[in-house]
Amino acid sequence: MKKRIERMLAEVAETELNSPEEVEIFRVAYLGRKGKVKDLMMAFKEIPGDQKREIGPMLNTLKQAIEHRVSEAKTTAVVRPKASGVDATRPSGGVPLGTHHPIQVVRREIVDIFQNMGFAAVEGPEIEDDWHVFSGLNFPPEHPARDMQDTFFVERDPDILLRTHTSSVQVREMERREPPMRLIMPGRVFRNEAISARAHCMFHQVEGLYIDKEVSFADLKQTLLHFARCFFGPDTDIRLRPSYFPFTEPSAEVDVYWGLKTEVDKRITKGTGWLEILGCGMVDPNVLKASGIDPEVYSGFAFGMGIERIAMLRYQIGDLRHFFENDRRFLDQFVGER
Ligand code: PHE
Repeated sequence: MKKRIERMLAEVAETELNSPEEVEIFRVAYLGRKGKVKDLMMAFKEIPGDQKREIGPMLNTLKQAIEHRVSEAKTTAVVRPKASGVDATRPSGGVPLGTHHPIQVVRREIVDIFQNMGFAAVEGPEIEDDWHVFSGLNFPPEHPARDMQDTFFVERDPDILLRTHTSSVQVREMERREPPMRLIMPGRVFRNEAISARAHCMFHQVEGLYIDKEVSFADLKQTLLHFARCFFGPDTDIRLRPSYFPFTEPSAEVDVYWGLKTEVDKRITKGTGWLEILGCGMVDPNVLKASGIDPEVYSGFAFGMGIERIAMLRYQIGDLRHFFENDRRFLDQFVGER
């Protein structure tokens, strides 16, 4: 009897109790109605009285030791995930740091600058109808952009197409909002162009639109100057050159002064020092009218810029195709950019 108790004491101390299930099995095996302690108690009754005085306290010690093990293990046993293939206890780390794509970095920076001026960011669909990409923007029926040579059509008659510019989002927003509105609209656009270092069939634009009473060309110029100084640096100069778009009148193209310090500067600015970054203008009264806004009461400006072009300037990237090849040697250069 003494030996049995001693062996059991050793057994109790050695049993590993790592999970709540194991603790419960252990408890039932020793303390349950048909458990090992019960067996000992039965045997205890049978032994001669003079031995009971010695064995009795040993039995008590055993029982207490078991109870102690159970209550202690209940607090330390952890719930382990079932075999899900995930070991939550493995040390972390060693996963290589990903990067933000340069297009995403530049897009976010542009949108942030305009959001700080009170422009709200919105997006529109990439697959569009003729109205939002062309007709609602005052494109005449014979305009070459409506040609298969320039535009990807999904269906013809009625025309469903991939938007060729984010100006389509202007129309959507003017139709569903009441002025005043100040919006910044980033997105992907598509044009049927041969892929080269300077052109791609898919690229990104950011569109801006501001409509209110008495919005003037001076507001447009000042807004874009502020943007250029936030993005390219506080000493940046811009110039506006007259241009033409069907949906703005008057229209302009905006250049930033890049400088002529290096041979590369001379080459990319074609010897002028100036680089074009966007198109803009006062929203044509026809466009306002087409979207249900009274041009007698409201005026506005709009602008659109290509993100790739600006990213190429920012990071001195010589070939547009780098953006879309997902070559790690290219992308890894942007580790740490936000
Ligand atoms: N949508 C024009 C383009 O893709 C840019 C633009 C936008 C011009 C808004 C004027 C106003 O070239």
